[in-house]
Amino acid sequence: MDLKKLAGEQAANMVESGMKVGLGTGSTAYWAVMRLGERMREGLDIVGVPTSEATKQLAIKLGIPLAELSTLEPLDLTIDGADEINPDLNLIKGGGGALFREKMVAAASRKLIVVADESKVVERLGAFTVPVEVVPYGWESTAKRVAAAGCVPKLRLVKAAAGNADTGAGAPGAESAFVTDNGNYILDCDFGLIEDPERLEAQINAILGVVETGLFIGMAELAVIAAQSGVRTLTR
Ligand code: 5RP
Repeated sequence: MDLKKLAGEQAANMVESGMKVGLGTGSTAYWAVMRLGERMREGLDIVGVPTSEATKQLAIKLGIPLAELSTLEPLDLTIDGADEINPDLNLIKGGGGALFREKMVAAASRKLIVVADESKVVERLGAFTVPVEVVPYGWESTAKRVAAAGCVPKLRLVKAAAGNADTGAGAPGAESAFVTDNGNYILDCDFGLIEDPERLEAQINAILGVVETGLFIGMAELAVIAAQSGVRTLTR
């Protein structure tokens, strides 16, 4: 049983015609978007706001009408995945690097529904490193300031798919900085288990050079969690 598919599809079944819907990013949100595409072919009528370029391309392929966030807000609901979910429905997000747009869209939504398999539910956030989006200019200085908040930040890297035969730069397998849809970098920050996620979010967001953190505090209202034993929902 594909648990991500189960959770994503179940949340997509909660969407009603006429709704303005935030479309999340990642392998669980993917199934929610796929199900919304299927339901649109059966007559569902919605408008979506994607949280990433990848989700935008998927929604276009599925024929889901899209609009700019600013023209549509407030959205009725957003369905998105998470990397960790604690009992208060505070989240770590950004494993896929889409955290900034995900937070923008979630903040403009009346309801954020998180979709995940059971492995994402934790007692305390922090086993998954906290993604922090930073401006490329002076990112090393920003990383030092973030480190002073009590973590070991690591610049997120990606392996190049193709290289430049002349220079060797970007040769297959060579690593370069991961660049977000907003043209920024990601620092993956190991804070250990986090005692006060709300305080930490405020502390990191106050650092010069930081765009946004993957800590989503008090934003999710409902979590649809799929396990081998079935689907359960968590509320705040
Ligand atoms: C992307 C995200 C994703 O929602 C999060 O990483 C969970 O992804 P997946 O459903 O693939 O496990 O925050 O920025």
